[in-house]
Amino acid sequence: MVTALGYGTTGLSLGQRVVGLTDWYRDGTLAEYVAVEARNLAPLPDGLDFTEGASLPISGLTAWQGLFLHGRLQAGESVLVHGAAGAVGSMATQLARETGAHVVGTGRAADRAAALEFGAQKFVDLANDTLEDVGEVDLVFDVIGGDIGKRSARLIRSGGRLVSVVGPAEVWPDGGVAIDFVVESDSARLWELARRVRDGRLRTNIGTVAPLEDAVAALNPPVRRTGKTIIRVRP
Ligand SMILES: NC(=O)c1ccc[n+]([C@@H]2O[C@H](COP(=O)([O-])OP(=O)(O)OC[C@H]3O[C@@H](n4cnc5c(N)ncnc54)[C@H](OP(=O)(O)O)[C@@H]3O)[C@@H](O)[C@H]2O)c1
Repeated sequence: MVTALGYGTTGLSLGQRVVGLTDWYRDGTLAEYVAVEARNLAPLPDGLDFTEGASLPISGLTAWQGLFLHGRLQAGESVLVHGAAGAVGSMATQLARETGAHVVGTGRAADRAAALEFGAQKFVDLANDTLEDVGEVDLVFDVIGGDIGKRSARLIRSGGRLVSVVGPAEVWPDGGVAIDFVVESDSARLWELARRVRDGRLRTNIGTVAPLEDAVAALNPPVRRTGKTIIRVRP
């Protein structure tokens, strides 16, 4: 997260607060100063702080691209969102509900209340409930993979979609498609997501907030943590 210094023709103004996702072909952003192409930046709306802004690019864009760009989710369809209380899953759950889809969320037993609060209409505790009891769905949004991914593929009705952010599907849905993807920068969409947060239509899912000097420990926690880990570069 930086203050814009150069902005070309993007509509950003000098000194504006911005939020963005750097592309994957450069080093990361755990530094006091980073160069980011202006096309990868969106304004951070008034009313949002940098911590809220930092929670959005990867989780929000991954959820949006998985559901709508790759998953082609439509109102009235059903979607199984794995890890529905996690950083990506909580965004996917909210955005899917906003579009009028029926959402079944999954996760650990301890995630049930959070997943339902994010908008899941039903919750499957993957350790104690039977995933197959969900029945047929139009779309699976997979953030877990492995055996859960394989079993989920079998729940997809003909013509349905399996979208994974954790690698290629090992089982394809019968008569459907399986897509795995890596999130891409999209400043216009990021601006829309940020405005949703500002307007109270989308809740961020912020977990640990740690200073830059504690970044390595914060990103490798010894115990389970929930929500998006945010690294604050400046106090
Ligand atoms: N391809 C892409 O562009 C892209 C973009 C963003 C994220 N990702 C990947 O997507 C995955 C999720 O990211 P995230 O930021 O949403 O992580 P996260 O915040 O940890 O959310 C994942 C959620 O799924 C739960 N979960 C994982 N395995 C489970 C299992 N076997 N049974 C029940 N619950 C399980 C986690 O619980 P626990 O914490 O207890 O495990 C957590 O609540 C990561 O592997 C990440 O690298 C990919």
